[in-house]
Amino acid sequence: MLFQTLITSFLIASASAHSWIEEIRIIAPNGTFTGDAGYARGNWRRTAAGFNDTTMTYLIPPDGQANITVVYSSTKMCKNSQQTETQTSGSPRLQASPGDAIALRYQENGHVTLPWNQPGKPPNRGTAYVYGTTSPKVGEIFNDVHKVWNWNGTGGDGRGRLLSMQNFDDGRCYQINTGNISEYRQEKFPHVANQLMGADLWCQQDIKLPTTAPSGEVYTLYWVWDWPTLPDIDPTYPDGKIEIYTTCIDINVEGSVVNETESYVSGQSLDSASVASELDDLTSEDAVSWDSSVDQPPGSTSSSASSSTSISAAQAETSTSKSSTEATVQPTSSVAAGVDSVNSQASTVTATVGEVTAWRTVTKLEVFSRTVTVTECPSATG
Ligand SMILES: *[C@@H]1O[C@H](CO)[C@@H](O)[C@H](O)[C@H]1NC(C)=O
Ligand SMILES: *[C@@H]1O[C@H](CO)[C@@H](O)[C@H](O)[C@H]1NC(C)=O
Ligand SMILES: *[C@@H]1O[C@H](CO)[C@@H](O)[C@H](O)[C@H]1NC(C)=O
Ligand SMILES: *[C@@H]1O[C@H](CO)[C@@H](O)[C@H](O)[C@H]1NC(C)=O
Ligand SMILES: *[C@@H]1O[C@H](CO)[C@@H](O)[C@H](O)[C@H]1NC(C)=O
Ligand SMILES: *[C@@H]1O[C@H](CO)[C@@H](O)[C@H](O)[C@H]1NC(C)=O
Repeated sequence: MLFQTLITSFLIASASAHSWIEEIRIIAPNGTFTGDAGYARGNWRRTAAGFNDTTMTYLIPPDGQANITVVYSSTKMCKNSQQTETQTSGSPRLQASPGDAIALRYQENGHVTLPWNQPGKPPNRGTAYVYGTTSPKVGEIFNDVHKVWNWNGTGGDGRGRLLSMQNFDDGRCYQINTGNISEYRQEKFPHVANQLMGADLWCQQDIKLPTTAPSGEVYTLYWVWDWPTLPDIDPTYPDGKIEIYTTCIDINVEGSVVNETESYVSGQSLDSASVASELDDLTSEDAVSWDSSVDQPPGSTSSSASSSTSISAAQAETSTSKSSTEATVQPTSSVAAGVDSVNSQASTVTATVGEVTAWRTVTKLEVFSRTVTVTECPSATG
């Protein structure tokens, strides 16, 4: 009965729902979730009385802002209900150790499996960033953090660092619908419906807490889903638009540093496991979702980015060992226009962005292409 209600509420919610981090889990070295779930600041469970989408979504720029191609310097990183380090009853913080691998879990709500519903969105369904800090501020200003804090922690005022950057589409997640992407994934990534997810399979961003996160203190994560509409595609948004959602999360860091090598055990239930390819990426202390010596966060260099969409061999991911065959994303016309051929040490890959041949490789092409395209938009300052 409860289960039925949950599924029904998912279906109703999905029409307009946007995404936030619904829960955070610790990942054991074999890829299985372990321990109790943790939750964002000011969390509302979907099952709680009074829940509706707006209780958890935080849109930037906010509804009603006249100019949606700019993020003003007054814009806060966190939703009002997530400004302070406060949990709600029944939604405690995650307890984790320094160096733990953790999964940030969110629903795709059709943004991955029904991409044609929002014309002009990037093929990777936007980029999800995770920033970490031991010194969060009440009233944290969005523009002081996003695309300012960098991998090595020297960006901006140096209070925090970028921990992860990933496609919103984790290559696996789906909501149940009759679109071909969902149907393909339902078959490729089957799982038994459970009370939490229903029949859907939630998305994940798997990261590692820094080993330097001090034990006995709170470590704060800012999750930022940057999902722009590119210009000149949707007639409603001739200049494109900025569309960003955030979730602010505190974690109680306890115990001694975890220094483990992850090795995903295949064949386990997808209901309670990390995304294998993401876990494989968390190999070193300073693990990031991709090579920081190759990629800088888009935006840090965007003012100087050329309008060319070709990328150099040095910028291309050389390994195709993590390639997977799931063809998942729809080409968006303007983005698909550009990318030509990429030489890597291993092989020559010719790809159109959105045509997912080697998932990791095209991931990068998408990001580079997106970065370039976004420079034609007014940048997110103001
Ligand atoms: C992974 O390790 C955890 C913790 O040791 C254990 O509970 C779980 O059963 C293991 N999963 C698999 C698939 O072996
Ligand atoms: C959603 O919940 C908030 C309180 O959390 C309330 O202010 C708002 O009116 C509700 N919206 C709808 C559409 O019910
Ligand atoms: C929106 O703001 C940007 C940056 O300040 C500016 O370049 C642009 O012209 C503005 N657009 C509109 C429609 O006012
Ligand atoms: C940190 O990264 C920035 C840009 O990503 C770079 O300019 C800077 O030299 C790096 N600093 C250190 C100490 O590595
Ligand atoms: C879904 O359909 C579109 C349009 O026909 C096609 O381009 C895409 O490859 C299909 N994707 C999958 C996963 O079947
Ligand atoms: C983690 O373990 C590896 C090998 O056992 C070692 O080289 C490395 O220094 C350790 N890192 C930390 C932060 O303890």
